[in-house]
Amino acid sequence: MQYIRNLILALVLLLAVACTGQKSTTVGSTTDIEKRIDKLLSRMTLSEKIGQMNQVSVGGEVSNYAEALRNGQIGSILNEVDPVKLNEYQRICVEESRLGIPLLVGRDVIHGFHTIFPIPLGLAATFDPALVEEGARIAAVEATAQGVRWTFSPMLDIARDPRWGRIAEGSGEDPWLDARMAEAMVRGYQGTALDTTSLAACIKHFVGYGAAEGGRDYNSTFLTERQLRNVYLPPFEAAVKAGAMTLMTSFNDNDGVPSTGNTFILKDVLRDEWGFDGLVVTDWNSMGEMIEHGFGIDRKDVACKAVNAGVDMDMMTFGFISHLEELVASGCVKESAIDEAVRRILRVKLLLGLFEHPYVDVGAGQAVQYAPEHLAAAQRAAEESAVLLKNEGVLPLKADRIRTILVTGPMADAPHDQLGTWSFDGQKSHTVTPLRALQERFPGKVVYVPGLQYSRENRSRFDEVVAAARRADVVLAFLGEEAILSGEAHSLADLNLIGSQSDLLAALKSAGKPLVATVMAGRPLTVERDLPNCGAMLYAFHPGTMGGPALVNILFGDVNPSGKTPVTFLRTVGQAPLYYAHNNTGRPYQGEKILSEIEAEAGQTSLGNTSYYLDYGAYPLFPFGYGLSYTTFRYSDIALDKEVYAKDGTLNVSFRLSNTGNCDGTETVQVYVRDLVGSITRPVKELKAFERVSLKAGESRRLSVQIPVSELAFVGLDAVRQVEPGDFQLWVAGDSASGEPIPFKVQ
Ligand code: NOJ
Repeated sequence: MQYIRNLILALVLLLAVACTGQKSTTVGSTTDIEKRIDKLLSRMTLSEKIGQMNQVSVGGEVSNYAEALRNGQIGSILNEVDPVKLNEYQRICVEESRLGIPLLVGRDVIHGFHTIFPIPLGLAATFDPALVEEGARIAAVEATAQGVRWTFSPMLDIARDPRWGRIAEGSGEDPWLDARMAEAMVRGYQGTALDTTSLAACIKHFVGYGAAEGGRDYNSTFLTERQLRNVYLPPFEAAVKAGAMTLMTSFNDNDGVPSTGNTFILKDVLRDEWGFDGLVVTDWNSMGEMIEHGFGIDRKDVACKAVNAGVDMDMMTFGFISHLEELVASGCVKESAIDEAVRRILRVKLLLGLFEHPYVDVGAGQAVQYAPEHLAAAQRAAEESAVLLKNEGVLPLKADRIRTILVTGPMADAPHDQLGTWSFDGQKSHTVTPLRALQERFPGKVVYVPGLQYSRENRSRFDEVVAAARRADVVLAFLGEEAILSGEAHSLADLNLIGSQSDLLAALKSAGKPLVATVMAGRPLTVERDLPNCGAMLYAFHPGTMGGPALVNILFGDVNPSGKTPVTFLRTVGQAPLYYAHNNTGRPYQGEKILSEIEAEAGQTSLGNTSYYLDYGAYPLFPFGYGLSYTTFRYSDIALDKEVYAKDGTLNVSFRLSNTGNCDGTETVQVYVRDLVGSITRPVKELKAFERVSLKAGESRRLSVQIPVSELAFVGLDAVRQVEPGDFQLWVAGDSASGEPIPFKVQ
């Protein structure tokens, strides 16, 4: 399958070169590539082959690695972004090693290279795959211009527990949304045709890593094969179909098997079922960590297990380079397995055109960094990703009626923190904070009293900030969590605004002025206690380089907020995990309805024996897909074109969407489906389509969405993915908790 795709890619590329004369890497046909691989392989010694399978994080002087490079002992490097040094690394490989094989240069380019976009969770809140693709393309243009040709992104881990710090790095809780974002990022990084701006994508972490027990990073997961197939694998499969060139194994052990040694997922599913012919790399030392897991005796043992499970490249365990030769000699590993791994590595290098273009033009590379159009796209992404959670008529602010704006809070002027986790190459000096953006736009009107310089600082400066609030016309509080509180190994057990920030907001409220809280964070924090203390709350995640101007545009109404929550917002951390696509259970919570009925009938106050918490009920603070606008939208006349569909049919749902407010706005229409009875129990709702629709004030439009019935397939009791005939329901709504179900049947 992938072979055919590569062939098409190559043909498209040749055509593009022929038509436009545009400078791009000619890769020839895939057949040529396979022949070139055969030829190279036939000339390689076993040690040179194993060298290709070794990835090293470099630092310091290039000369430290020169001997290993010359001897063909390193196939890939990561963590160097200086183009001069990268050219020198390549020169040693190309000119001084026996076979002249260039290096594959990797880097964690996660949500932008220099121009930093919102964190991936924020990008998911845009529900705008086209914009996300554009962002990934920009990241690719900037990174490749500096010599990086491989990014360890996108992260496709479904995350349903916000304690897990890495929830920031993915698209949240939903497989459908995740899959659409996955495809967009793969297309964006790699480009629609492979050329010298193509950045090989690495889909990670394969698989189930986001289900870490208790949200503690690196923790064990216990996902059944069916859960894997119905929830955790689909985004990966979508990304493979979209042409992802590489994949990274995950740190976790699932049901007792660490991913880096898991033949079932790496061979049976990935290679045999999906036909993936790209490169599989371990996560950082995840091969070595199989010893800690208790899955191997020593480095030699785990190297043997990993390569036999289907791993091609070792990131930083040095297990392959140290032991594969002896493992081949002893017969534990077949040389043919090594050949296959090297074939996949060389294929990526050839497809990227590294043999023809190993070097970068250092001067030209600098020119594209932070290009104005890159900054504009990053700003648009930040504007689209902010979710308006509450607005009691405070927003948008009317600039002409405001003389003094008090800006406060630890995130108001925190250039590093607003970039978010994994923004290695984004520079503070290029970051525009809300404070700077406000000062530029309203010279002389802005008073800045941080209140808290750092989110853990105490309340000693509250008097000063409250006094300033009394003198101001409006108070803008920028709260949240520092970049370092989310991301890898940064799990939290308490999800309230950290430190004294909630107290700051409560103190500010006492000034009695219009008060807007803007939250910048790497996860959905539990802000229930803060909502009553502000007139409006805007949730911006970590918005990246252009977060400042983007947020100011929203606050002052130049941009109408359109972000939707890509993950359920909890009332309290004890509710985790709580997600919209849960199963119904045998005793579903029926909330207030039951309570009032029971009270009326029996004078009881119990909610009955249903699934809920005594103290917090069963509902979240905000459901998945939620977000307000400065206007309002109404859905009406929702109808399916049929009552009964064939398995190979297509649902056609039409509806009227009306902008019923006073300003133009964009709504993300969401379509959810429920399969009422199955061979296994099914989620109460599953997202199956979404679309951003922009309507002028007062405009009303008839719209339709098509969903192939095949999208309703799942892996049921007999382990086969199929649509099971029966009764279904469908919703068209602005979030996962709204709307009325429409029945239909599949036969
Ligand atoms: C470990 C992380 O888990 C992974 O996501 C990242 O790409 C690698 N380190 C490389 O930095």
